Amino acid sequence: MAPKSVPLRDTRQLYGKVTRLLHWSIAALMLWQFFGMGLKLLLGRQPVVAFFVGSHQAVGTVLFVLIALRVVWALVNRRSRPDHGAGFWGLAARLGHMALYLVMALVPTIALLRAYGGERAFAPFGFQIFPAQEPPITWTVNLAGALHGELAWLLLVLILGHVVMVGVHESMWRDGTLARMAGRRRAGL
Ligand code: HEM
Repeated sequence: MAPKSVPLRDTRQLYGKVTRLLHWSIAALMLWQFFGMGLKLLLGRQPVVAFFVGSHQAVGTVLFVLIALRVVWALVNRRSRPDHGAGFWGLAARLGHMALYLVMALVPTIALLRAYGGERAFAPFGFQIFPAQEPPITWTVNLAGALHGELAWLLLVLILGHVVMVGVHESMWRDGTLARMAGRRRAGL
């Protein structure tokens, strides 16, 4: 029998094509952001660092759009997604994913609020998205100054925890969890 292909929408057995595209493109762009900012922290201002960090605002803005789409798509599919299961680990997975969504959405939103309220025009792609504010909106600037970096590192910790738990599912529990987002053989198709 020919194997069934992955559907566009999510099902109870696995995540569909749209969720997978959003998940893996966000993961790749996040890696770019953290790699660049990690280098900046380790090496300071250097040409190689400027190569990664120079695209930080543009990549972050694209991430904001992808994350907004992802939240909407998760809500549209909320009744037909794989279940996290019962008991302690099910609850932990649910809470962990909620925290991931919340912090993932806050990090670029707060940075964009700062860009909106700043005294310089915001034009990460070469055309103006927000004009310069005169005077600047201090609360948006201060909010991001206080929280953008800190929440971003918290997000990295949550992402690392997420990756470790996928490793536990794969190596110890062998329940096909990764296949729900990256394959189909062990996810019930
Ligand atoms: C999900 C998307 C994003 C991630 C994961 C991310 C991550 C980070 C990280 C890890 C830092 C370093 C903090 C430190 O030095 O300790 C940082 C700094 C920075 N980010 Fe982002 N960022 C994102 C989106 C954005 C966006 C959309 C903008 C601009 C609109 C932006 C502007 C900045 C700026 C100006 C800094 C340096 C000042 C600061 O730490 O606040 N970021 N970001």
